[in-house]
Amino acid sequence: MYINFWYPICRSDELAQSEPLRSKLLGTQYVVFRDTDDQPHVLSDTCVHRGGSLSKGKVIGDRIACPYHGWQYDGEGKCALVPSLGDKKPPGRAKVDSYPVQEKYGIVFAFLGDLPEAERPPLYEIEEYDDPAWREHEIIMLELDCFYERSMENGIDPIHNEFVHPAQGSPQPVAGSVSYPETPWGSGVHGNYTETGTKRSDKHGMKADTTFLNAGTWHHGPNTLITWITFKKDTSLHQYLFEAPIDGDRTKIYFVNLRSFRLGPENDERIRNANVYVTGEDISILENLYPVRTPATRVRELLTPGDQTILRYRDFLDDWTSRGWRLDWKRMQANQGDVAYAIPSPARNKSGNWVLDAVPLLAAESGSVDSAA
Ligand code: FES
Ligand SMILES: [Fe+2]
Repeated sequence: MYINFWYPICRSDELAQSEPLRSKLLGTQYVVFRDTDDQPHVLSDTCVHRGGSLSKGKVIGDRIACPYHGWQYDGEGKCALVPSLGDKKPPGRAKVDSYPVQEKYGIVFAFLGDLPEAERPPLYEIEEYDDPAWREHEIIMLELDCFYERSMENGIDPIHNEFVHPAQGSPQPVAGSVSYPETPWGSGVHGNYTETGTKRSDKHGMKADTTFLNAGTWHHGPNTLITWITFKKDTSLHQYLFEAPIDGDRTKIYFVNLRSFRLGPENDERIRNANVYVTGEDISILENLYPVRTPATRVRELLTPGDQTILRYRDFLDDWTSRGWRLDWKRMQANQGDVAYAIPSPARNKSGNWVLDAVPLLAAESGSVDSAA
């Protein structure tokens, strides 16, 4: 798991004003609340006084009040009031970690890290999101007993389809059409396909015309997965999976789906059900992988040329590890309940959530203990 990326914290419609919400990601608890302007804020859930859970407290105006002794924190995490001190100013270290927030696609995202704005990897931009030629149905929420990197690797794996999704037939790539596009923050595969032996009926309007059938899938950062499929002229599905690693064993997925056909809302449920069905096929594989987390070294698995996209994804992870962004999950687990007050972000060392042994919670090298099962 990595700091310094945008992670989905909750859906917008879950976050009512004056109702704080608790969300767990990267093995750490956060409180999310809206201020009087409806702006969401994400803070560490742990009150620096004596460990109260802020998400169990109250929103008072633009602040969140701890349920234990009433300390009030503003949206930047600064403590503005300590009731037991009367008129005295709260101590300078009375501050909890706060994280940059963006609300988009019906999701509240937090940047869990400490990079300055200009250096942050961007949140993935869905350009067609507000385009009337596209229709999205409600976000599909999935919670899986699997490690998110396993889920990401499944998404960019082009060779599992014919086995895990038999109704899709066994599409074969058109010779010379396959490419492996790259961006500064991701990689994937794209190609045109001839469909052989498909068993898919046209009941969802997605039966392919092989003149047009093309598909691409790629990752953006460690936790955003994109799949585009064009079945026939003007008939495309775009799927965006924003993955939230709850901890080393569980993953929550916010699945945003757009389509360029059957735009009427009366089709939402059918298309949604088709998506849920296919995703269920993936989940039944993912929840039974062993070991739960990807092995620490590549030689522990027998990778073949068909796994090329997986290797590229792992190259990107290694690069982010070399920048010091990888969480040492094994060490975090060993310290759980003791030092995991907030994610270890060295630039936040002025916050009261900072602990001296936070730095070693970031892995130093590629293939470190985070991924050891
Ligand atoms: S623990 Fe939060 S105010 Fe005391
Ligand atoms: Fe799949």
